[in-house]
Amino acid sequence: MQTIRRLAELRPALSVFWSAGEDIALVPTMGALHAGHMALVAEAKLAARRVVVSIFVNPRQFGANEDLSRYPRKDLADARMLAEAGVDILWMPSVDEVYPAGFATTVSVAGVSEGLDGAARPGHFDGVATVVAKLFNQVRPHVALFGEKDFQQLAVIRRMVADLDFGIDIRGVPTQRDDDGLALSSRNIYLVAEDRAKAIALPRALGVAATTIAKNGKPDDALATARDTLTAAGFTVDYVELVDAETLGKPAPGRPRRLLAAARIAGTRLIDNIAVNEEG
Ligand code: PAF
Repeated sequence: MQTIRRLAELRPALSVFWSAGEDIALVPTMGALHAGHMALVAEAKLAARRVVVSIFVNPRQFGANEDLSRYPRKDLADARMLAEAGVDILWMPSVDEVYPAGFATTVSVAGVSEGLDGAARPGHFDGVATVVAKLFNQVRPHVALFGEKDFQQLAVIRRMVADLDFGIDIRGVPTQRDDDGLALSSRNIYLVAEDRAKAIALPRALGVAATTIAKNGKPDDALATARDTLTAAGFTVDYVELVDAETLGKPAPGRPRRLLAAARIAGTRLIDNIAVNEEG
């Protein structure tokens, strides 16, 4: 695996693949890799001849009071995991390499970015869309893989790719979970044992609500119950909402639906989501 930190070195390394006609899969990450990321890498290896993984903790997607300065960084362990998984290039640029002096562009995806996390974290999806657009232009992958845990992020990126004609196949990979059901996240590391035990209430509350909605078709009571359950478990709830799975707007009859939640436990913000099937 080549670890590359400068754009001037990335281009010649990629041009070897481009000129050999080899297709490229990109897995964008912020590092602190876990089994969820490695599932993306495994899918990437099936999807293309060459795999590029980026690790870049993107300051533009963190709000002023968020965890940028303490976001977990495990570069050496990450590089080892990626090399063992057979990744071709680890692209690990510095902040100055991605945002040089004078950088002045923001990519903003209206609509799908605006509710849910977009409302709770103003500017977050502008930061995500801007950096992902840059990564796409730097790596020029044929396919890019993102986890479904960040369901709204996936929807924002799909919209951006369609609107800006990137011509990249965007694939969502199902959320990887611990044995008790908690979605894997780099931020789970912040949870002390007591809060980690309470955190399981999040996937459970979503599972109960999704089953109830699928059975009786009445979301309002099920959503209220999920919020109450989370509050009783010690969470401060940002939102629990049922949305259209593509637009993330109001759910409509006959369209796929998704239940999304964000809630904080002891200052750690967790997100999760689940499909709501007709049969539950
Ligand atoms: O999901 C993430 O880790 C980040 O939001 C991403 C897509 C790498 C952009 O910084």
